[in-house]
Amino acid sequence: MGWTYCVIWFLFLSVSECWQLPNSEPVIHGEVQSPQYPRPYLPNLLKQWDLWVPEGYQIQLSLTHLDIKATLGCYQDSLTVLYDQKVLGKFCGQENSTDHPGQESVLSQGNRMTLIFQTGDSTPEDQQHIGFSAAYKAIDIDECSKPDSEDGSGPLCSQICINTPGSYRCSCHYDYKLHLDQRTCLLSCGGCIFDKHEGHLSSPGYPRPSPPFLSCKYIISVEPRFTVTLNFTDNFHIESMDTQQGPKCLHHWLQVTIPDREPMKLCGGKSPGLIATNSSTVRLDYHTDNEGLSHGWSLDYSTDVVKYPLKKCG
Ligand SMILES: *[C@@H]1O[C@H](CO)[C@@H](O)[C@H](O)[C@H]1NC(C)=O
Ligand SMILES: *[C@@H]1O[C@H](CO)[C@@H](O)[C@H](O)[C@H]1NC(C)=O
Ligand SMILES: *[C@@H]1O[C@H](CO)[C@@H](O)[C@H](O)[C@H]1NC(C)=O
Repeated sequence: MGWTYCVIWFLFLSVSECWQLPNSEPVIHGEVQSPQYPRPYLPNLLKQWDLWVPEGYQIQLSLTHLDIKATLGCYQDSLTVLYDQKVLGKFCGQENSTDHPGQESVLSQGNRMTLIFQTGDSTPEDQQHIGFSAAYKAIDIDECSKPDSEDGSGPLCSQICINTPGSYRCSCHYDYKLHLDQRTCLLSCGGCIFDKHEGHLSSPGYPRPSPPFLSCKYIISVEPRFTVTLNFTDNFHIESMDTQQGPKCLHHWLQVTIPDREPMKLCGGKSPGLIATNSSTVRLDYHTDNEGLSHGWSLDYSTDVVKYPLKKCG
């Protein structure tokens, strides 16, 4: 719970009876009673209440008083509680009788709940049953208690899930940062510019296998009169899928970007060896996710002065 939320909740608890979101009506708690309560109800009633609270909350309904003419299966007079057409409970009888849940409450799976109070035509006008009184309130859903996201795309958060009122957010361990998707944690790596005339680069943890969820960026940039040559060592392995057209980089890749040229995606088990980039600037992006395993790569780079072809005159 963030500090701001604490303040909001404090204000809500101390000042207001019901909390309203801007531009909408959902209240955070309330009461529902049968018509004319606490005077006896009439026959041939059909009354419906549609309750809703903000997204990220569910509704807890407690029957504070129940006095509905008892029939088998409550077929004559009844209070029915529904969520999305699904009956959560049907009630009749007196408080503390077997038909009544006693101190128990009814919980909806989402932020809506429907109550239907129905009385039959064989109920006499002068009967003494007074109906029901119920209280409801919004309960924060703990999204983090659910292991996976609803759309089946894996865990809600790849590392740490933090429940907040009405929602949740993801967080990451030290050295990782949250990806744009707001749920995946990426290891911070690369991010620096290599401006020396020769140097060495390798995948994080090399020669150990690369961790999952990497998104590393390396830039080699020297003066424009030099060109960069990459020399990959033989020890090269980036997870790939073998196809007839060669290895396909599905989950892991090392992308080499040279200005004004189509980026090259490298993967597979064969070292690319020497790559003469003919450019003074090269960008390398190393990406892994949690599918498969890459043993990594390493390279030395060197630079040469651009040799302009001699023009023959005359
Ligand atoms: C119903 O039962 C509860 C506890 O079991 C008791 O406190 C309450 O007084 C009872 N209500 C009536 C109307 O008997
Ligand atoms: C590339 O690196 C290898 C060692 O990994 C070395 O033997 C070779 O001479 C290098 N090639 C160039 C052109 O620098
Ligand atoms: C660099 O230039 C050489 C010779 O013009 C060419 O063969 C090579 O493919 C170029 N390298 C890249 C990465 O385009």
